[in-house]
Amino acid sequence: MLETTDLTIRFGGHVAVDHVSCRFEAGTLTAIVGPNGAGKTTYFNLVSGQLPASEGRVRLEGEDITELAAPLRTRRGLGRAFQLTQLFPNLSAQENVRLAVQAREQGRGRGGVPAWLGGIDLWRVWLDHRAWTDEAMAMLEQVRLADKAALPVAALPHGDQRKLEVALLMALDPKVYMFDEPTAGMSVDEVPVVLDLIRALKSRKDRCILLVEHKMDVVSELSDRIVVLHNGRLVADGEPRAVIASPVVQQAYLGMAAEEPA
Ligand SMILES: Nc1ncnc2c1ncn2[C@@H]1O[C@H](COP(=O)(O)OP(=O)(O)OP(=O)(O)O)[C@@H](O)[C@H]1O
Ligand SMILES: [Mg+2]
Repeated sequence: MLETTDLTIRFGGHVAVDHVSCRFEAGTLTAIVGPNGAGKTTYFNLVSGQLPASEGRVRLEGEDITELAAPLRTRRGLGRAFQLTQLFPNLSAQENVRLAVQAREQGRGRGGVPAWLGGIDLWRVWLDHRAWTDEAMAMLEQVRLADKAALPVAALPHGDQRKLEVALLMALDPKVYMFDEPTAGMSVDEVPVVLDLIRALKSRKDRCILLVEHKMDVVSELSDRIVVLHNGRLVADGEPRAVIASPVVQQAYLGMAAEEPA
């Protein structure tokens, strides 16, 4: 589904992602772990096209997408959680999700008769709008935000905004889901809502999920495979139990994670 070959980025003399070669198959959830500054988010940025690679290739379903801009990668099915700066802060949660649903449908060439094709079909516009709005509400219910659907996203507390990011990603329904610490900053009762959704996605078998996560209990429960980055390099890759037990993870990752403030 997704493959990176020697993917590299240099910031001046610093190599933040260093020749990372990795393949991700449909129907699998791969956790990407590593200490702070290991290059996990930067790797995601290179895959999604938010940053240009200094070297290496990115392939989606066998097609080289290395030169494609981020929006074109999204259109091909690469799904990166939106940052809130990419949302419409004054529109409601529901309107934001509806726009994501609408973008997906129109990207697939469905919905809405263009005006130049024989005038505007108001009946069709109304039906599409209603279907998109209903789907947006269903997404918001899944992340337990239905009661806040009408609020402008700028007014939502941090945990709700993170859940909204997940709802937006699901509305796009990409082939590859990239979650970067999806539960960071959430309260204990919000975390299971998001983890349940990721679990449900995983059971679909036709989607490929990449999850950057620091919480090792979450990682070992959800992942089929763990990839470890350290100083931008891929230093371990394999079955979760073996990777967690490996000396490189025990020292390089868990050792440092244990020193982080709670
Ligand atoms: N735009 C940039 N310009 C310069 N250096 C950058 C830039 N983006 C990232 N870096 C550097 O690249 C390295 C990797 O950062 P990155 O954010 O990918 O780490 P991470 O593994 O996601 O860490 P964390 O677990 O804290 O989120 C860091 O040393 C960081 O300072
Ligand atoms: Mg990061």
